[in-house]
Amino acid sequence: MYPLIPTSRQTESEWRNQSTQKPPHKAVYMQDANADTVLKAAYEHTATVWTGDFHQAKQVLAAMKKRVRKPVKSKQTPADVQTAFHTHRMRQAQQSRVLNMLAVEIGVGFALDMPRAPDVRAALLDVYGEDNASSFLLPLNQLLGFIGAHEWHKKGIEIGALDGRIHVPFGVFSPLRGEYLDLLATAPLDKRFQTVFDIGTGSGVIAALLAKRGVPHITATDTNPQAVACAAANFARLGVEGRITLAEKDLFPEGRADLIVCNPPWLPAKPTSPIETALYDPGHAMLKAFLGGAAAHLNDGGEAWLIMSDLAEHLGLRAKDELDKMFQTASLKVIETLHIKPKHGKAFDESDPLAFARSQETTSLYRLKAV
Ligand SMILES: C[S@@+](CC[C@H](N)C(=O)[O-])C[C@H]1O[C@@H](n2cnc3c(N)ncnc32)[C@H](O)[C@@H]1O
Repeated sequence: MYPLIPTSRQTESEWRNQSTQKPPHKAVYMQDANADTVLKAAYEHTATVWTGDFHQAKQVLAAMKKRVRKPVKSKQTPADVQTAFHTHRMRQAQQSRVLNMLAVEIGVGFALDMPRAPDVRAALLDVYGEDNASSFLLPLNQLLGFIGAHEWHKKGIEIGALDGRIHVPFGVFSPLRGEYLDLLATAPLDKRFQTVFDIGTGSGVIAALLAKRGVPHITATDTNPQAVACAAANFARLGVEGRITLAEKDLFPEGRADLIVCNPPWLPAKPTSPIETALYDPGHAMLKAFLGGAAAHLNDGGEAWLIMSDLAEHLGLRAKDELDKMFQTASLKVIETLHIKPKHGKAFDESDPLAFARSQETTSLYRLKAV
């Protein structure tokens, strides 16, 4: 499953990388090096496996980031926004590839045998699901991401609209930017709606919220088995498991519902790692499949609620009238649209190369009915 690469210890080692990047040609073990040395090797497709002090490795990684990530001034909307987006994605991919060339060796049982290294076993178990029988090489940047994700998983995210916390492991979409949940908490929910389908439930946050709003019968689906397990744990923690049935399934469950809700990926672009598939979806495939099947799965008088941001429009990835055309093609009509402005930090980050688009973003809940 993971590629093997030659190392300076005359052995081959498994190279584990979450993204779709090509593996390095080889890996060289080093106890000490500066950022320039690691970067020079990285540009020659050689990974550096750090064997010295863990904190020093983190400092070297931070220095590499400073050198590689040159700030881009972008307050002005560029003449060609689509090219600006694709250039940004390409730059991100190149930077990530280079930064991933500083690695550590993870021993059997997820042991990290380096001076001042933290215990990473629980964080790696969260990611891989089971212990490792042999050692492997892992980019330090990813290890740090796994550790951060594990802390969030333990701590959970407070969801105001839910009056509770949602716990999300690495690999499942996290409702960290939760403005769309405010829309779901306030959208008019017909008292006659007894059955709901939540398509692509992820952490289960939408299903849990609708259960808390009083819907007695909800079916939540997701194709990602990690998401299904995560949602089950969240439902049990929040005491709503009796109202929700979970299914690892593509799109719709059997039958019909009074309300069908979906928050698909918002950007029609290519993901570069499995975790990005919740954000990027080439050609808006899930959105189109959801809209295309909604009418056939709605009871008479039922509604489909679509959560979608217009960021794709500000990035030139979707024409302004395209969503309306998709509704028409799917024989759906908009009853009402609720809007909200993002509140998360990224929307106000002027150093973000996509700030010109993010600052204009609006998130919407479309209430649709079959025509
Ligand atoms: C943007 S996330 C939304 C997660 C959650 N509903 C929320 O709002 O926080 C999209 C989810 O759809 C799931 N997904 C993608 N394609 C799917 C499909 N064909 N059928 C069911 N779920 C799918 C992904 O695994 C992911 O969990």
